[in-house]
Amino acid sequence: MSKITKVIARQVFDSRGTPTVEVEIFSNKISASSICPSGASTGSYEAHEKRDKFNKKYLGKSVLNTVKLINTKISKKIKNQNLHNQEKIDDLLINLDGTQQKKNLGANAILPISIAVKKLSCKIKKIPLYKGFLVKKNFKIPYPLMNIINGGAHSNNGLRIQEFMIRPDKAKSMSDALRMCFLVINNLKKIIIKKGYSTSVGDEGGFAPMINSNEEALKLIVQSIKRSGFKNGRDISICLDVAANELFRNKKYSIHSKKYISASKTIKKYNILINKFKIKSLEDPFNENDWLSWNQFMKSNYKKIQIVGDDLYVTNIRRLKMGFLSNSSNSILIKLNQIGTITETLKVIKYAQLIGFNYIISHRSGDSEDTFISDFAVGTNSNQIKTGSLTRSERVAKYNQLLRIEESLGKYSKMNNIK
Ligand code: PGA
Ligand code: ZN
Repeated sequence: MSKITKVIARQVFDSRGTPTVEVEIFSNKISASSICPSGASTGSYEAHEKRDKFNKKYLGKSVLNTVKLINTKISKKIKNQNLHNQEKIDDLLINLDGTQQKKNLGANAILPISIAVKKLSCKIKKIPLYKGFLVKKNFKIPYPLMNIINGGAHSNNGLRIQEFMIRPDKAKSMSDALRMCFLVINNLKKIIIKKGYSTSVGDEGGFAPMINSNEEALKLIVQSIKRSGFKNGRDISICLDVAANELFRNKKYSIHSKKYISASKTIKKYNILINKFKIKSLEDPFNENDWLSWNQFMKSNYKKIQIVGDDLYVTNIRRLKMGFLSNSSNSILIKLNQIGTITETLKVIKYAQLIGFNYIISHRSGDSEDTFISDFAVGTNSNQIKTGSLTRSERVAKYNQLLRIEESLGKYSKMNNIK
C-alpha cells in the first residue's frame, strides 16, 4: 500500500490563457500532477466548472477558491488513503460533493485529483500509464480525428460548423497517420494562402480562415486531400463536429446558413453534405434535448456513418442509456471533465462497449500540456482520439505521447479498428 501524503493545488493557465487548476499528489517524495481542461461549447448537463465569479482581478475566471478548497478540506479527506485504490478515492470525492453535477466542489476540483492519483499509482508501480486501465494486453493505437479547420465557438470566422476534421483511415501506424495529416495540413495551408486568407489557427489548432460557408471549407479540405495524393473517403475521411447546441433556437437550426430552418430540412441538407463530401462521422448534429431529430437522423444513417453524441451524453451513463434506448446515435465522445472522475468515465466506457458504441476520447478546446488522454485512449481500447490539429503544443503533445506509446509497444504495436 502507498499512501497519499500530500496534496498541492495551484492555479495555472490553459491554452486559451484562462486560469485552471493543477493538482500535484505526493506519496512521500514521489509526485504526479494533472491540469484540468475546459470547454467553450459546453453541454448544459455537464458537471460544473467552478470559477471565482465575483473576483474581478481575473474577470471572474480565476479558480483560486477551488485551489484553496483542495488545499484544505479535500486534501484532509484524501490524505492517508491508499493511492492504488482509485475507486475509493473517486467515491470519496463524489460523496464529498454530493450532487449529480458536481455543483459543490466542481469537476475542475475533482478531475485533476482523480487523474494525478492514477498517474502516481502507475509511477509507483513502475508501469506505463496506458497499462493502468482496462486493457491488459494487445494494446492498440487509436486513429486521430484531426481538426484542420476551426469554426463555431472556437474561432471568430463566420463558419457555422465548429470542427472540420480528417481521419486517416488507411494509416498503418500512428506515425503514418500523422504523416498523412501533416501532408494534408501543409497542402491546405498552401491553398489557403493562395486564396488570400489568413493561416492563423483557432482554439484547437485548425486553420480559421475568414470564410463563412461550410461547403467552401469542405471543398478546401477535399482539394488538399487530393493534392496530398490521397482519395477522400478511402484513404482519408472527412468528419465533422457541428456542436448544434450553439445553432439552435425555437426548435430550428441555423447550421447550413444564417437562416433558421426546421429539423427535417436540416436533415435533408446534412444528407446532401454527407453524400457530396463522403463524410464519415458527424458529431452533435442536433441540440442536446432534441432526441426526436437524433432518432430520425439515426434511422436513415446509422449504417452509413458514425453519429457521435458529445453534448448529448456529456460522458454521463444515464444520458447514454437514454440515447441507446431511444436509438439516438451509434457513438459517444468521452471527455473526463464532463463527468469528473476516472471511475465514472470507465463505467461509461464499459457500457459503451456493452452496447457496441464507438467511444472517442477527446480533449477540450481549452487544454494544456497534460497528455493523460493519450494513455487513456490506448488503455481503454478506444479506436479514435480527438485532440486537435498538428499545431499548438497542447494538441501536438498528445500526438507525440501516442508516438512514444507506439514506440514502446514496438513490433506488437497495431492500429485499432474503425467500424
Ligand atoms: P469544447 O469543444 O471543448 O469547447 O466543448 C469540443 C467539442 O465540442 O467537441
Ligand atoms: Zn463536440
